[in-house]
This record gives sequence, structure tokens and C-alpha cells, in this order.
Amino acid sequence: MSNFGNQVQSKLYQTMKNPDPNRLPVVYEEWEKRAREVLEDGPFYYVASGSGGEKTLKANLEAFNRWKIVPRILRNVENRDLTVNLFGHSYPFPLFHAPIGVQTIIHSEGELASAKACAEMGVPFITSSASTRSMEEIAEAMGDAPRGFNCIGVKMRK
Ligand SMILES: Cc1cc2nc3c(=O)[nH]c(=O)nc-3n(C[C@H](O)[C@H](O)[C@H](O)COP(=O)(O)O)c2cc1C
Repeated sequence: MSNFGNQVQSKLYQTMKNPDPNRLPVVYEEWEKRAREVLEDGPFYYVASGSGGEKTLKANLEAFNRWKIVPRILRNVENRDLTVNLFGHSYPFPLFHAPIGVQTIIHSEGELASAKACAEMGVPFITSSASTRSMEEIAEAMGDAPRGFNCIGVKMRK
């Protein structure tokens, strides 16, 4: 039986540097901490804070924290497939880039940077109605990659 998995695990721990400033964080809180180090107050709080008393923000975080990864052992995971089919199209993962407006406030390329990243990853990019880059520029940056436009819908529920 191959011990490839053990070798990968050993290499991972042996070569891990902590803290290594060149590694991208995997923990959300670490992303926030790094952003705080490089952004001015205005841009940082535009992204990090919520509206009003931030009740919805807190409720969303609590709800998200209730989701857990269920470990499934003794299954063949050699060929992983997260493909989803939606509206007649096939996507490599069940992930979309939500509409996030005013992105030049945090990066000089603004929406073009995230649109290009999405095109590279195969993640559909939804352009915000408050985009600081035009739909034409975004379309040009993305080529044939999947994308959409912000459609605002508000639904109140308990
Ligand atoms: C900085 C920021 C900007 C956003 N801008 C928009 C926007 O322009 N239009 C919109 O419909 N939603 C906007 N949203 C809402 C997000 O698209 C998304 O619905 C919301 O963040 C909830 O998803 P999440 O829990 O993954 O953050 C914005 C959210 C953030 C944090």
C-alpha cells in the first residue's frame, strides 16, 4: 500500500514556517488582521463592518460558524469533483463571487483584479451595481469566463 499521504503530511509539517509572511492565510480572521495592517480606516471599515448595529453581520457569522466539515473516512478521494450544474451551465465549484461594490477603495485595479482572479479560477463573477469599473472593462478582462450583474432583492424574514 502506498504511503504517499504520509509523505505529503510529513513534508507539510517539516517545511512549514510559522509565521511565514509570504504564505496566504487560510483563516478568515488572519485575512482581516492583514488587511487592517495595510488599509486606512475608511477602506478597512467599508469592508469589515456592517450597517446599523451590525446585528445581521453577527447573525450571519454565527450561522456560518454552525456549518462543519464532516470527515468521511475510507473513501476514495483521489479524483475529487465539486462540479455543480446551474441554469444550464456547469461550474467547477459551488462558489460565486458576490457583488462587492466600490472595490477601487481597497485596490487600484478594483473589480478588474477580482474579475481576473475569478476568470482564472472558473468562479463566476457578479458585477456590483456600485462597481467602480465598467461592465465593458470587466467583460474584456474576463474573456469568455462566466459572469453576471447585481440584481438587488430584499426579503425580510424572521
Ligand atoms: C464590502 C462589501 C460590499 C458589498 N457591496 C454589495 C453591492 O454592491 N451590491 C450587493 O448587492 N451586495 C453587496 N454586498 C453584499 C454581498 O454581496 C453579500 O451578499 C453579503 O456580503 C453576504 O454574503 P457573505 O456572508 O458571504 O459576506 C457587499 C458586501 C460587502 C462586505
